[in-house]
Order: sequence, then C-alpha cells, then structure tokens
Amino acid sequence: MRRESGVSHCQGFPHESMKVGIIGGTGVYDSRWLATAERLEVQTPYGAVSVTRGRVESCEEAVYFLNRHGQGHHLPPHLVNYRANIWALHHVGVERIVATAAVGSLNAALSPGMSVLCDQFLDFTKFRPGTFFEGGTNGVVHTDMTEPYCSDLRAVLFEHAEAVGLRAVNGGCYVTTEGPRFETPAEIRAFRMLGGDVVGMTSVPEVVLARELGLCYATVALVTNYAAGMSPDYLTHQEVLDLMGQYQGSLNQLIRTSLPSMQQHRDCHCVR
Ligand code: HPA
Repeated sequence: MRRESGVSHCQGFPHESMKVGIIGGTGVYDSRWLATAERLEVQTPYGAVSVTRGRVESCEEAVYFLNRHGQGHHLPPHLVNYRANIWALHHVGVERIVATAAVGSLNAALSPGMSVLCDQFLDFTKFRPGTFFEGGTNGVVHTDMTEPYCSDLRAVLFEHAEAVGLRAVNGGCYVTTEGPRFETPAEIRAFRMLGGDVVGMTSVPEVVLARELGLCYATVALVTNYAAGMSPDYLTHQEVLDLMGQYQGSLNQLIRTSLPSMQQHRDCHCVR
C-alpha cells in the first residue's frame, strides 16, 4: 500500500491512483466480494453515513462501498440522503464513483437483463434536495451538465462487461422519477417521446451532486423489466429484486475487474 506517495502499483503499473467509491442500489447490498472490509461511520453536515472500506486482490488502493438504500433497504428512493452519501464519499477521498441501479426499460431494444451505461438524464423528481449550493457559505453555483456521466468510467465498464457475462450498451438516457410508485403507461409514453431509454428513481440527484463536487460518476443501470404499459403484466418490486439477485454476482464482478483501470489517474472533464 503506497497511499503516502499517492502512487499505487495496481497490476504492476506504477501510476497515481484514485480512490473509487461504489454505490450499490437495489439488490446490491453485499460487500463480501471485497477481500477485506472495515466499517466507517462518516459524519457529514447532512447526517452520518456508514461506509465500508475494503480491498480487492488485484489492487492495493482502498475501495469505499455504501448502499444508497441503507441496511436492509429501509430507505425508499425519495428519502435517500443523497447529499450525505456523496459528501461522505468525497470526504474519505473518493474521486470516482460507480453506482448500480435497477431500471425499467422504455426502449424495446433494451430487454431485461441488459445493462445501460447511461450518458444523459431527464429529471422528473419533485421534492428532493438536489444541490450542495444553496447560497450562504457554499455560494451560488450553476454546474455544467453537458456530460453528467463520466465517459472514461463508462468506457472502462463497457470494455469489461462482456467478459463478466453482461450485455451492455454504452449510452442511454435515464429518466428519474420521484417514486416510490411506478409510472403510469401515459407517463411512460411521454418519457419515450422525450427521448428516455430507461426509467428509475435514483440517478438524480446522485449524479448531479457528484458533478457539483467534481467527482467522476457512472451508473450501471440494469434493466429489470419493461416499463408500465410496455409489459402485459403489472409491475412488482419483487420482480425487480429477483432480477437484481440474478445479476448481482455479474455486477460485483464487473466492478472488481474494472477497478484497476478506474483507479488510474483521471484525465477526463469531470474535475471541477
Ligand atoms: N420504473 C421505475 N423504477 C424502476 C423500474 C420501473 O419500471 N424498474 C426498476 N426500477
């Protein structure tokens, strides 16, 4: 471990290393894929956050893991403390974040079991605190959102997806709804007309807050179902959980195999 010098010898290549944070979404609660794990309680201006610091075998730099829905999925998407989570990861030194998310598909070509490395979002949230900048000491800041999801992280994840058995698409528009209810078929038709590819309840404000702090952020959005009205069946949370359970191992594996590249010095537009 060479944090003092800021240099890691991940896979034998000396380079300046980045701390990577993982935000597990629905169905991704497990940090047992880490070789070592230690629980940290990080105090933030928005509340305390429990973060697991661990390591993977192929790399010496620490990885930081949290589940956005908390222990036992007790927080619904509209009540997740997004600001505390992103602030906590930033506070422990994380510079790049990979999140997982369960999503419904609006696009017939994106079938359940596929992964979308989103590159755009549409924001239909309503009541969530969505910024660190509310005037006062933090000031008034208007953060650029031209490229909300880091193209370098997406490229790395895309490169490794096939080898771990994930059918991935690099690019797609994530429509974020307030939830916790699912959408009506009329809403889904409208989102499709607007250019949405997948729908979920969590990417906003997570990606926005990461951008506000100059962190790289990518989402692996796993399609668990066709969205309301596109599927002949009514939607259930159980089918979302079942599909996520089926792919949890592949998602963990994707993150583990992508880590050495993600920890390399970043040369993207995300640094503020
Ligand atoms: N809508 C919103 N969120 C979701 C869905 C959906 O169809 N599937 C998984 N998360």
